[in-house]
Amino acid sequence: MTSVLRVLLIIGGGIAAYKCLELIRQLREAGLSVTPVMTRAAQQFVTPLSVAALCGEQVRVEIFDPHEEARMDHIQLSRQSDLVAVVPATADLLAKMANGLADDLASTVLLATDKPVLVAPAMNVRMWQHPATQHNVKTLRHHGVHFVGPENGPMACGETGPGRMSEPHSILSAICHFPAQCLLCGRRILVTSGPTWEPVDPVRVIANRSSGRQGTEIAKALQARGAEVVFVTGPASVALPPNAQIVAVETADEMLYATRAALPVDAAVFAAAVTDWKADAVRGSKIRKSEAAPPNLRLRENPDILAEISQLTETRPSLVIGFAAETENVIENALGKLRQKGCDWIVANDVSAGSGILGGDENQPVIITENGENQLPRQSKAEFAGHLADLIAAELLAQ
Ligand code: CTP
Repeated sequence: MTSVLRVLLIIGGGIAAYKCLELIRQLREAGLSVTPVMTRAAQQFVTPLSVAALCGEQVRVEIFDPHEEARMDHIQLSRQSDLVAVVPATADLLAKMANGLADDLASTVLLATDKPVLVAPAMNVRMWQHPATQHNVKTLRHHGVHFVGPENGPMACGETGPGRMSEPHSILSAICHFPAQCLLCGRRILVTSGPTWEPVDPVRVIANRSSGRQGTEIAKALQARGAEVVFVTGPASVALPPNAQIVAVETADEMLYATRAALPVDAAVFAAAVTDWKADAVRGSKIRKSEAAPPNLRLRENPDILAEISQLTETRPSLVIGFAAETENVIENALGKLRQKGCDWIVANDVSAGSGILGGDENQPVIITENGENQLPRQSKAEFAGHLADLIAAELLAQ
């Protein structure tokens, strides 16, 4: 991740555009870089010259200007920024964004970007309250767009109510806190979690000691950064992450089916402790103690969900993370799993008896990639989840 936050600032055509000059000044003072794009209407309210002077960068306006496109086109503008801020976001710009219109440089960049987008709406109170605008706002929130304001108060048109643009310092604060709150906005991430249960008969299962705690904490940390989380969980013994899309399963086969159905996703984290074997034949009625001898269970191997998803071509998530529960040769075995299954990162854990990790509150993880390993100190599963979510955000941003 870059150290200086790069803001692509789209200035819309409303009277509140004049506040952009102060916003740019504050953004620059806070050490952020600002690349300006103005709509044609915006130039009626502030001059490109003032904007360029404050940004220290040329203002881009036209999509079909051969000079501008040759230097940096609309795709590159998005690529070379960390987030896109639309200030002021007029009713017209919000409508274009919600409907995918792209008839000028600003709206084309907004349609082409995969970066987090923050908008600061500004418009007359009735325009803001109009069902069409409210419908567009709902659509945009659903797409992961982040809103700052509008505020209640007197407006340039002489009316009072919601629609007034937030003050530059509030927009600055929203932009600066964006990395923590919204770096995963608009990203859809799959998390598998918990144990799986493989039935033997109607009352008995083959299971393992996983509580689902680590997977749940990861889902919560991803959500706290704005991601939409699909949480495919076996029978866990901890509370499920609130607000995630929960898909409750029991067996490895069900987990594989639910995982495939959740695609496409931007990233997938396989924290589930999948039971490796299932009964070859599940008995329809309870196996009785009175049967001649203790039953001999014949087992069959379960599908490897992580390996299957890692080896997809078209719908493979761009980041696939596995876990490795090991009791010996932790690093070596985990690296073997990374290669054999084809995931991008693997989080290795020593789950040997006495480590207290499987089913416990803490973790002592090593994150392994083809480029090396990072041994982390023993920490709570919630702490590790936050760290992992930050790494995922940085990786997706860099891709
Ligand atoms: N995994 C999976 N499907 C399976 C088995 C494992 O998706 N049938 C995933 C786990 O969610 C984890 C990774 O693969 O991300 C490694 O799981 P682990 O239990 O450590 O290893 P196994 O592949 O089961 O191998 P072994 O039991 O031999 O250590």
